[in-house]
Amino acid sequence: MPLVNTKEMFEKAYKGGYAIGAFNCNNMEIVQAITEAAKECNSPVILQVSAGARKYAKPVYLRKMVEAAVEDTGLPIVLHLDHGADFEMCKDCIDGGFTSVMIDASSKPFEENIEITRKVVEYAHAHKPYVTVEAELGTLAGIEDDVKVEHGSESYTKPEDVEEFVRRTGCDSLAIAIGTSHGAYKFKPEQCTRDENGVLCPPPLRFDILEEVSKRLPGFPIVLHGSSSVNQEYVKIINDNGGDLKDAVGVPEKQLREAAKLAVCKINIDSDLRLAMTAGIREHFNAHPDHFDPRQYVGDGRKYVKELVKHKITEVLGSNDKA
Ligand code: G3H
Ligand code: 13P
Ligand code: ZN
Repeated sequence: MPLVNTKEMFEKAYKGGYAIGAFNCNNMEIVQAITEAAKECNSPVILQVSAGARKYAKPVYLRKMVEAAVEDTGLPIVLHLDHGADFEMCKDCIDGGFTSVMIDASSKPFEENIEITRKVVEYAHAHKPYVTVEAELGTLAGIEDDVKVEHGSESYTKPEDVEEFVRRTGCDSLAIAIGTSHGAYKFKPEQCTRDENGVLCPPPLRFDILEEVSKRLPGFPIVLHGSSSVNQEYVKIINDNGGDLKDAVGVPEKQLREAAKLAVCKINIDSDLRLAMTAGIREHFNAHPDHFDPRQYVGDGRKYVKELVKHKITEVLGSNDKA
């Protein structure tokens, strides 16, 4: 099976009450960990590439590695551009074999966001085979490549804007802001309460906005960015092995599971992969200070990322046995 776009994948996910994991890829071990986990769970998967990943690994390496994963697993896999900054970057990816792109003009005024998104949609939909386009309305706090949005400057998606935006742009899916944010420090400690173990408990996501958006866009796939849960077991392994991640906190997995049962068809996860990889490598070095073969320590990082992705697919996304 060749790379696929998101169309059929999202239709099935919407009807089935589950979401597809969109995992960020930066190197071979991450691609292997995600796709081997997906294979063992018989799950469709989205592999996404950011501008930072393109700079780090070069687009051609990333594309060839993803093609290798398709050949290796036989799974339905989407190669997606994450946070495309402008038309040129989206065009470059569409021309280069990506099957889906995100145009992120969410920091621009409404009319400008519509104009840029529509231009990308026209190009992507005219491409053969059809390339699907994700757009964004509302802004998340955190770091998206070079755009840093301070906590407090983020803005929730306004449900009253979504019908006009989707109608005028023709986009295939829409990322909305309901309280998630990028990175491993999603909430300030003062926004949270603490449980009996001193672990931070963040404020709940704005399910009221999600429900209002899906009422206005029946059957339309919604995307959640910034959806790492910052699982404390990995934070602990990192901190117990020389790391220093204080007050790292994410979106509780239970809330993401609920969102996946509603209109959310794509859930973006990057920071959790980074934490799992770092936990595996730090633990390895601590246990084996004499090792210097990258296959040994990166291999342990890959093992942890694979375990994490299997957990996400079965316990959070619900996309197991849907390939
Ligand atoms: O949304 C941001 C993703 O986590 C990508 O991060 O720009 O550091 O590759 P990056
Ligand atoms: P996290 O930082 O929560 O993993 O979000 C990743 C993301 O949204 C990529 O676009
Ligand atoms: Zn994102």
